[in-house]
Amino acid sequence: MRRPVIAGNWKMHGSRAGNADLVAPIVEAVRGGLPCEVLVFPPYVFLPQVLEQAADSGLGVGAQNVSDRSSGAYTGEVSAAMLADVGASHVLVGHSERRALYGEDDATVAAKFAAALSAGLTPILCVGETRDERESGRTESVVARQLAAVIEAVGARDLGRGLLAYEPVWAIGTGLTATPEQAQAVHAFLREEIARRDATIGNSLRILYGGSVKADNAATLFACEDVDGGLVGGASLKPEEFLAICRAAA
Ligand code: PGA
Repeated sequence: MRRPVIAGNWKMHGSRAGNADLVAPIVEAVRGGLPCEVLVFPPYVFLPQVLEQAADSGLGVGAQNVSDRSSGAYTGEVSAAMLADVGASHVLVGHSERRALYGEDDATVAAKFAAALSAGLTPILCVGETRDERESGRTESVVARQLAAVIEAVGARDLGRGLLAYEPVWAIGTGLTATPEQAQAVHAFLREEIARRDATIGNSLRILYGGSVKADNAATLFACEDVDGGLVGGASLKPEEFLAICRAAA
């Protein structure tokens, strides 16, 4: 059994006052027991605040990005060791917004994944195709290439120390969700790609779906055999909706 994970990616949203109201009900629900592991990804500057709120509750807190370098003259960057030092447990790597808006290529994403592992963080590797790529029948080749870059860098066994998220770019923040059939097909394909390198990791790796996950579509997506939870953007900013998504992971 793969324990489901629900991860809330706040993106560039939040404020000290707002975070307190957003995190308190989540901490309370996690303490009360939810059918999944729950993670939140606030902007860097709020990590200490959210970590303090989440302390000893079981709610995991991660960062949305990390440097591929370990230390030095890299103005504006934050290393994996720094994230581990403040208490973060997870980090997103290769989110499509990082790839598309900040020029992160497969090699950079792979280096970030490796840097996160070396610092003892759990990276969540995000992969996904654009609308053009899907319409021209390239979904599988795109996600296979994005996945292979990381496997080449760290090996299939160490891929298994992280998590994978399939996020079709055309579904992110658009209100267009992949159908359960579309999600399941890509998740099964990714699992196969991993399994042919390492059967154990292929079977055990948790693969989250992301892209307009909402309270009203979560249950059907999570019911798919190879969908092990969700990476949730917009809906993670509304505590009731986020918790409804967590409960749908039962
Ligand atoms: P969304 O974002 O749920 O707002 O579509 C998902 C993500 O970008 O991780």
